[in-house]
Amino acid sequence: MKTNLLKYSLSAVALLLVGSNIMAATPTVAPRTYPAGEVGKMVKVGEDIMMHTDTHPLTKDMVGNKLQCISCHLRGTDGKPGTAPGIATLIGTATAFPAYSKREKSVQTLQDRINNCFMRSMNGKRPIIDTKASIALATYVTWLSTGMPMKMDTKRPCSPLNSNRWAQNAKKFAKIQKKATHANYVNGKKLYGAKCAMCHGADGAGMGAFPPLWGQKAGKWLAYNTGAGMSKLNKSAAWVQSNMPFGQGGTLKDQEAADIMLYVDAQPRADFNLQKGLYPKSKMGYYNSKVSKEKHSVRSNFKQFGLDVDTIRGDHKIK
Ligand code: HEC
Ligand code: HEC
Repeated sequence: MKTNLLKYSLSAVALLLVGSNIMAATPTVAPRTYPAGEVGKMVKVGEDIMMHTDTHPLTKDMVGNKLQCISCHLRGTDGKPGTAPGIATLIGTATAFPAYSKREKSVQTLQDRINNCFMRSMNGKRPIIDTKASIALATYVTWLSTGMPMKMDTKRPCSPLNSNRWAQNAKKFAKIQKKATHANYVNGKKLYGAKCAMCHGADGAGMGAFPPLWGQKAGKWLAYNTGAGMSKLNKSAAWVQSNMPFGQGGTLKDQEAADIMLYVDAQPRADFNLQKGLYPKSKMGYYNSKVSKEKHSVRSNFKQFGLDVDTIRGDHKIK
């Protein structure tokens, strides 16, 4: 066990070195200095939450898994949360808001967009707008766009560095996933074992600093729920192709990324129920969305692509 761990950490260090070379070719970085006074202090609180979301005193009660914001909005060469250049970078994000969201059928603020990640990616509860956690995260994310021109996005609530990449890749991978069969699942499982399990574990539960991808431990869910972007077969393939294996983003072929995430997103994870992610109206106040009911499961996420999860898995283990 010990030698295995040592081997894994050595390979992780090697991959990190390779990764920093790739990233150096397309650097995106945070500003070199923090803003003065109270604003600078707030940026630092936000940065701290990004790194320690599930244990930070301001956010731990709103997180229902073992993930951090940096689990998906990766740190770049400067070590700052969300500055890695892959898809889901947070550089430029603040310039796009207020922005239209098809999912919410409303014009969203940056706080809205950030807070929604808590109910979905973090499998928890949506922070209340203008509470310290909400302001701190928005302040941090805004700092990352220092000096960039504003351009409100009328189509989707995301950075100009992500907007087209999401649109094109989601379309490309939807086409591939709609054709998936049990053979793609088997191939995905094999590739997962060869390229991912050394860090995320064969059981998907993660190891040390390597975050979990699915499943439960002691009755608690470990990863993102079925309402998260990462639980959708096309978006998750796009993210993984751009960002994983860690430090080797951009190396998986389209079909490989698709098959691996067909496997990963067919594993057990928490169902999404929008109402459960919201505090009671008396506490939460106004919820800026025209959608008040939304539910997803692994099964319904597969159905969205015309797939039956039992047939894809070749068993009946998903409820
Ligand atoms: C499990 C992965 C995951 C985690 C954890 C996660 N996010 Fe996200 N986030 C995503 C994905 C994927 C998208 C794009 C999804 C989409 O458009 O549906 C996204 C989009 C965003 C956006 C819009 C940005 C843009 O330019 O595209 C913001 C802001 C954001 N997340 C903030 C956060 C914050 C703050 C946290 C921590 C509280 C967090 N996210 C945790 C996966 C994650
Ligand atoms: C060298 C170790 C390593 C390898 C190999 C690796 N990952 Fe990761 N992965 C990470 C780390 C580290 C993070 C989070 C980044 C952070 O915390 O700074 C991550 C994050 C993720 C996330 C988002 C967070 C979550 O837990 O849901 C997904 C999804 C993911 N990896 C999938 C994969 C897949 C699929 C493969 C194989 C193609 C893979 N990874 C290979 C280390 C690795």
